Amino acid sequence: MTNMSKYIIQGGKPLKGTISVSGAKNMATKVMVACLLSDQVMTVKNVPEIEDINRLLEVLTDLGVKTSKLGNNTYQLDPKNFDPRNLNMELVSKFRASILLLGPLLAQYKEIKFPHPGGCTIGKRPIDMFIEGFKKMGVSVSMDEKYYTFRSQGLQGADIVFPQITVTGTETLLLAAVKAKGKTKLYNVAQEPEVIALAEYLNKQGAKIKGIGTSILEIDGVVSLTNGEVDVIPDRIEAGSFLALACASNSNLKITNCDPEHLRVPITLLEQMGVKMKVNSNSIEVLSAENIQASNLKTHEYPGFPTDIQAPFTVLLTQAHGQSLIHETIFEGRLFYTDFLNRMGANIIMCDPQRVLLTGPTKLKGKKLESPDLRAGIAMVIAGLIADGTTEIENIYQIERGYENLIDKLKAIGAQIIKRND
Ligand code: EPZ
Repeated sequence: MTNMSKYIIQGGKPLKGTISVSGAKNMATKVMVACLLSDQVMTVKNVPEIEDINRLLEVLTDLGVKTSKLGNNTYQLDPKNFDPRNLNMELVSKFRASILLLGPLLAQYKEIKFPHPGGCTIGKRPIDMFIEGFKKMGVSVSMDEKYYTFRSQGLQGADIVFPQITVTGTETLLLAAVKAKGKTKLYNVAQEPEVIALAEYLNKQGAKIKGIGTSILEIDGVVSLTNGEVDVIPDRIEAGSFLALACASNSNLKITNCDPEHLRVPITLLEQMGVKMKVNSNSIEVLSAENIQASNLKTHEYPGFPTDIQAPFTVLLTQAHGQSLIHETIFEGRLFYTDFLNRMGANIIMCDPQRVLLTGPTKLKGKKLESPDLRAGIAMVIAGLIADGTTEIENIYQIERGYENLIDKLKAIGAQIIKRND
């Protein structure tokens, strides 16, 4: 889905002040799907107003869920009239989190057709681990060129080992297991804060999940769940992106409404680079990023360095003294955007698709760019804000999928950025 709007940025303006973090996209989308496990009303607070949420609300509405906005990032979802037959295939194929629907759909209906879920183009993004997990739970899965067909006579508890850690895979099979018959054990699960928050919500509503926050989840299936009120946790990836912006532009910026506990590894890396910060319980203030030094960066599952802020930190490293090796270990196609940084004046050599060698510091110059995906898109915005001259970024739908109210937030700290509809 593209639109013709673009961002136009006049770079090099001093930034100062306070920038606030919204609710986490990658928790909000998941917990809102979980409303389908009960027939009661769910109230979700701190929901970011972003395109992925709009798409999910459309999917839920098509499925018969009554959705109402109560104002100020709060939504009420009433799944009483949920009908799995009204799944909108076109919309579902637009964003990755839609695959979480499979558990609740299979809990109510014996046969579900489902397209390959969409999301950012940052690698192949297969769903083999989901399919293997569902098979273990007694689901038969077949596939033609367009759709997967899932058939089940009722989900059965199972022992499922993930050969590799998968965030959405863990969450999808968790949603499937909470109402499955018997016990499910999930081994080698993701431990991202969003996964933990989802599991904690489910337990609050009557699920029986043990081992939350560890690598093994043990789930005793229950017959029914309630729905209730849930607060979406702060978006650690948005916070990390603003942190990279503050340091790359050497600005005195205070990032508020965030949870620094979720960013301990990136914060430590910044300290090693020579950034001076004040870290409080729910804010991080960058005091100075003068003369920062290069650093190697290797992405890792939580609590390691998040792949989702690898691109913003790479922009930051173009301003650091020395050589940095950036190693993207999670996705095989998440470094190609470095080509646009080189066009802006960076000095980056691709060693192989998952490793680049960057030598800094280099002054960046404004360019015409097109956002390939969400996080490379925000990296372009950061690069544009620190560059000399004008940067134009097209395909900004990709950025607005995940960053709430970005233009207003940036303008409030002194950035010169406008959105133009051509
Ligand atoms: C989630 O994607 C996030 N998306 C991503 O954020 C994030 O980058 C990623 O986790 C890693 O933290 C959502 O939560 C909606 P994975 P997910 O399954 O769950 C491979 C953003 O910018 N794999 O943990 O899709 C996969 O190819 C987005 O907000 C298989 O091989 O990621 C990857 O190499 C982008 N087979 C690795 O596992 C499978 O069946 C980890 O992916 C599933 C995954």
